[in-house]
Amino acid sequence: MPGPVEQHLRAVPATFLIGALWGDEGKGRVAAALAPGFALTVRATGGGNAKHTVLVDGQALALRHVPCGIVAGVPALLGPGMLVHPLALVEELALLDRTGIDAGLVRVSAGATVVLPEHVDEDVARERMRPLGTTRSGIGPALVDKARRVALRMHELTDAQRVRHALQSRTVRARPKSEIERQVRALVRAGRALAPRLVDGGALVRAALARGDDVLVEGAQGTLLDVDHGTWPHVTGTHPTVGGAMAALGLPAREVARVIGVTRAYATRQGAGLFPTEVHGREEGALRAATREYSVRIGWLDLQALRYAHVLNGFDELAVTGLDRLRGLEVVKLGDGWLDARGRTLTTLSTDGPIGARLCELPGFLDDVTNVRSARGMPPAARGFLDFVERSVAVPVRRFSVARAGRLATRRSLLGAR
Ligand code: IMP
Repeated sequence: MPGPVEQHLRAVPATFLIGALWGDEGKGRVAAALAPGFALTVRATGGGNAKHTVLVDGQALALRHVPCGIVAGVPALLGPGMLVHPLALVEELALLDRTGIDAGLVRVSAGATVVLPEHVDEDVARERMRPLGTTRSGIGPALVDKARRVALRMHELTDAQRVRHALQSRTVRARPKSEIERQVRALVRAGRALAPRLVDGGALVRAALARGDDVLVEGAQGTLLDVDHGTWPHVTGTHPTVGGAMAALGLPAREVARVIGVTRAYATRQGAGLFPTEVHGREEGALRAATREYSVRIGWLDLQALRYAHVLNGFDELAVTGLDRLRGLEVVKLGDGWLDARGRTLTTLSTDGPIGARLCELPGFLDDVTNVRSARGMPPAARGFLDFVERSVAVPVRRFSVARAGRLATRRSLLGAR
């Protein structure tokens, strides 16, 4: 006989926002827009390598650990599978307070893994020796310690002896004792400041679902950065998929989640690695000028990558962000198949491919779409773009954002209910 918790979990699945490409898909803004309907927002995986940006009173606020739903005044949890840089988290909470957001609503899992300043140093040093293009936030080295089961967990941070031992056992560079002691003091201070927020994160999420509360899980990074299924070796060390998030939160896999895949209307990628629809030369200049993306690699939306992400995550729907950023282009292209070096079609990621993409073209949308609130009233070309995406990926596109303000508009899918 299933117990009451199990029955309730099945009745109220959590909603997962999952990055469909290589991260930076706009999950933060989608989370902030959806959060008011939820009782709890949660980050499941990753850590300070994520930079989720939301707008508060027109000002961009970058959150690296705290779920973006906090800006809507919704209680927020850092899950037990997260990698937390305690000093950065204390600063992030102070930033929230200064912005007038109630940081008192933030809870931190006692079992989350601590990222030490030494992990960051090691990440930086390794990047110099053998660049993978990491975010240099210490994620890989902290995960190594976690796998070796020597990492500190958040609840241990108030114990100076354990913190000292953890710092001393890291051997990236010899450090004077005084420097280690300075770090011990700073970390223990952060540990004491965070101690009142510590909870059993997995139990908190399960209890919320058992009560029938709606829970929004904000994924971090993107599916193609998955350590097992992404574009190895240029991946992160965790599983940014819905399966990874469920495992990290301790939710039973058969409790089916509602999964929203998030993608921009074009593709971007930080760091090195496969990027089949990447553009160069004049096309790159035009796409950058339209999207105002200058700090990341850029390319056309990759439908094959979305199909692959759908296979891995089982999306119930897609949210397409940044649609307005394609405005002004005469022609909009999309990748509709991966190609290997000999021009043969590939449907899976392999170590030696794909290196390119077959492209298709749609008419560009020249009209302003920033004030569009629903699919009605959208210029036909922009509407055609979303229709094309949902037909090609076979997943309803139910939401899209058209303005930098992050407004999320809804759309009735042509594919019908799922
Ligand atoms: P790491 O997670 O810092 O180890 O970085 C590994 C790879 O994942 C690099 O290519 C990073 O650029 C990428 N990455 C990690 N987190 C993010 C993110 O939040 N957005 C975009 N790329 C990310």
